[in-house]
Amino acid sequence: MLIAGATSASGEAVARELVGAGATVLAVGTRPEALSALAEAVPGVDTRVCDLADRSAVAELAMRIHLKFGNIDGLVHLVGGWRGGGGIAGQTDEDWDFLDRSFATLRNTSRIFYDDLVASPAGRLAVVSSTAVERPYAGGANYAAAKAAADAWTRAIAQGFGKEAPNAAAAIFVVKSLSGLESALAARVVALWSEAPSTINGVRELLTAPAGGENAPSDPARIER
Ligand SMILES: NC(=O)c1ccc[n+]([C@@H]2O[C@H](COP(=O)([O-])OP(=O)(O)OC[C@H]3O[C@@H](n4cnc5c(N)ncnc54)[C@H](OP(=O)(O)O)[C@@H]3O)[C@@H](O)[C@H]2O)c1
Repeated sequence: MLIAGATSASGEAVARELVGAGATVLAVGTRPEALSALAEAVPGVDTRVCDLADRSAVAELAMRIHLKFGNIDGLVHLVGGWRGGGGIAGQTDEDWDFLDRSFATLRNTSRIFYDDLVASPAGRLAVVSSTAVERPYAGGANYAAAKAAADAWTRAIAQGFGKEAPNAAAAIFVVKSLSGLESALAARVVALWSEAPSTINGVRELLTAPAGGENAPSDPARIER
């Protein structure tokens, strides 16, 4: 399993849950020191430094992964980042460039590892979207537009899987804020492998705080297909 952008709290939670489920986990980020801290916090995680916004760097990463491990079965994309403020007139090109780079990490990783997921007996792609896609604010227009692009990109992948890879699925988890939902996200990501692809492929699932405590699985509300 490849975690793209693995050094946030959500990345650590997902890495821990995947390792606990017996997966081989490759965690990717740009800061070596943050990856070392992750490897220390979650023993068993293999880390790789790579700027995932750089397509040729991702191609080289894929080559190395394929040489050492073979194809991947899962891509959990967690590169995010928020920029906003200033109403519509205050949406800056600098902020847009930052958000576009974040989107590029999804395009690059999913394009380069798409064939792995199609060939896998149970390929899974998971991304985290935002409620801002349905309810954008003027001050977060850049952010909402970038997340909408990532959302549409992932649903396009789901359509591709539906056509050519009935065993694969692309799932979109939707949150307002991830804070406090890291464990719920991690549990849902691992559960994707025990769910029928047809029930999760292209589904946008609102992730809410679990009723039964932090580590209990959430009660997902499927909000759109
Ligand atoms: N946080 C929230 O409240 C919230 C709300 C709605 C949606 N989401 C979405 O949920 C997902 C996870 O959010 P998050 O806040 O946990 O993520 P995040 O902290 O924004 O990003 C996760 C990791 O991505 C890595 N990263 C950034 N640029 C990279 C690049 N070019 N190449 C490789 N790695 C890169 C960063 O590590 P390095 O600096 O070490 O590279 C960072 O630790 C994102 O898609 C986000 O948009 C989050």
